[in-house]
Amino acid sequence: MGKGKKVTIIGAGNVGATVAYSLAMKGTCHYVVLRDRNVEIAKGKALDMSQAANAARQHTIVTAAQEASDIAGSDVVVITAGSARKPGMSRDDLLVINAEITKEVVQDVKEHAPNAIIIMVSNPLDVMTYVAFRESGFPRERVLGMAGILDSARMAHFIHEKIGYGAGQIRASVMGGHGDDMVPLPKFSTIAGVPLSDILSEDEIMEIVERTKHGGAEIVGYLKTGSAYYAPAKSTALMVEAILQDTKQIHPCAVLLDGEYGYSDVVSGVPIALGAGGAEKIFEMTLSVSQKKKFAHSIASVQSMIDVLKEKNFFS
Ligand code: LAC
Repeated sequence: MGKGKKVTIIGAGNVGATVAYSLAMKGTCHYVVLRDRNVEIAKGKALDMSQAANAARQHTIVTAAQEASDIAGSDVVVITAGSARKPGMSRDDLLVINAEITKEVVQDVKEHAPNAIIIMVSNPLDVMTYVAFRESGFPRERVLGMAGILDSARMAHFIHEKIGYGAGQIRASVMGGHGDDMVPLPKFSTIAGVPLSDILSEDEIMEIVERTKHGGAEIVGYLKTGSAYYAPAKSTALMVEAILQDTKQIHPCAVLLDGEYGYSDVVSGVPIALGAGGAEKIFEMTLSVSQKKKFAHSIASVQSMIDVLKEKNFFS
């Protein structure tokens, strides 16, 4: 491979492959490397996507990694590897299985792509981001989790569905962990600057908040054998683009907190400025008493899962 931006995607399942496809269709980077335990599947998808890129008149080349060293030189490594949610399974049930997988994958990143920015996508998202942070030893700016963009997009969709106008102008705000305790922030949500509370009733807003919290489960309920991937993949691709293009745009992403909002040594979703350095700035919003309470609740559920791993002496 010559010079040019390189993104590795670990896990070529529905989410990973769709991230690769989104990047290739926009020509966001020169190279996309798909790494999967099943190399043949990765090869087939890579070839298919490289051909799609040509159809789209884009320059992106998608290849499959044959071995771990093929990820060398990656600017961004997206980790989607892990077991997906099955119906009736909570994100938390996946905890130990996916923590082991993440640990193994992160060792490869540490060895072969030590300067990369890691974007975690596997669930339970915040805990896996914490595992990646701990096991990589990378500075926290370079270990991010994708969830807030997805959850905000879901909320924006539900708002649009309800009011029927303002598409593309809805700024829905969600913070906290990517779990049932996530914290949608209707008070910080607007449509072209008009506060949501001036458009919808309290009951309507509550309905949207609840549906947002269970947005992932609603889709699992339909798909039965898997979970959502179009919106998760697009949300991940947006993070990759902001990093590679150094846009410094503000997005809600999972990151290790180090005193922000009064918490340390735990990962949660907060607004960050995304640029070439990863999380270049972490924003602390002034929260109301009730928002703080909800955020504390969300932090506590992530912390309890981290504690389970600590009790098992999981961390190296
Ligand atoms: C979702 C699952 C995958 O939110 O976390 O769709």
